[in-house]
Amino acid sequence: MSETLDIATDVVRWQAVHGRNHLPWQQTRDPYRVWLSEIMLQQTQVVTVLGYYERFLEKFPNVQSLASASEGEVLALWSGLGYYSRARNLHRCAQQIVEIHGGYFPPTAEALSQLPGIGRSTAGAITSFCFSERVPILDANVRRVLTRVLGFSEDLAISKNERLLWDRAQGLLPKSDLHNAMPRYTQGLMDLGASLCTPKKPACMVCPLSLQCKARRDGDPERYPVRTRKLLRRAESWWLMLLRNEDGRVFLEQRPSTGIWAGLHCLPVFTERAELQERVKSWPVTFQDADAFLHVLTHRDLHLHPVQICWRKEWDAPIEGAWFKPAELEHLGLPTPIRKLLKGLS
Ligand code: ADE
Repeated sequence: MSETLDIATDVVRWQAVHGRNHLPWQQTRDPYRVWLSEIMLQQTQVVTVLGYYERFLEKFPNVQSLASASEGEVLALWSGLGYYSRARNLHRCAQQIVEIHGGYFPPTAEALSQLPGIGRSTAGAITSFCFSERVPILDANVRRVLTRVLGFSEDLAISKNERLLWDRAQGLLPKSDLHNAMPRYTQGLMDLGASLCTPKKPACMVCPLSLQCKARRDGDPERYPVRTRKLLRRAESWWLMLLRNEDGRVFLEQRPSTGIWAGLHCLPVFTERAELQERVKSWPVTFQDADAFLHVLTHRDLHLHPVQICWRKEWDAPIEGAWFKPAELEHLGLPTPIRKLLKGLS
């Protein structure tokens, strides 16, 4: 679709002066580094990513070293960033790059988006940054900027409309000086979405696109983007069996390979209190519920109830997991609330 709007020049010019230009992953066109940063930034803020990004590169300086690591090593370095399927996909993706692509990242978004964990928008970000490919991105920030500037009021819960927006985004891309313009344009849209074109009270007064922006002209930018289907939040209670033995070791199991905290080490989880009671019934314990605490996930509020039990070696042994010394916990992939809970133990 060819667009009558011309936002690319303004976005590129604005980015050079007002955008973010000193983030570590912007000082390179190495697709390994850019890919790593984009995966980390998918659900995590820049300030949090900075430290993880540096530690990750120190341990895995290239795609070969990441591909040949164990999944446990990757999860341990990821621990605390959350959304662990990103780490497992990152590892699988590195292996496929080495095995299928000879250790080189394919230079097109089309090819990259076939790999684990790389959706169309992430693929576009990587290839526009590294190879100046003329492809759009459409992450949540950019979706907001573009629906506003275009006055795109179709419901994005319908996939046909989402595809239509991708086509419009394609039509707005820079048309010249692509080597410089593509990375700047992509970063510029991200930066506009993060700094001025915010969900509430956007700073239209200082926006480089305000004169062209349909939402601003119509006076209600906050109504964009339009999406009818809201994600349902659920609340759940989980009972956590916090077993410690006489040497101060903690008993952990590995979570199943899918679902919440997949593949991480964790205290045994029970979704009913009675289930936990059943599991410990051969042991002469009575337990008292400690205070529950809340852990918020994207689609779920988890109310976590730790139940502490001092295990004695005369009792039959718990199965399916292993005992860990406090010093070993640091190098294990643990869910953040579990790590915090275990750190707080006296
Ligand atoms: N979020 C996703 N990608 C980003 C990038 N390249 N810079 C800053 N924030 C981002």
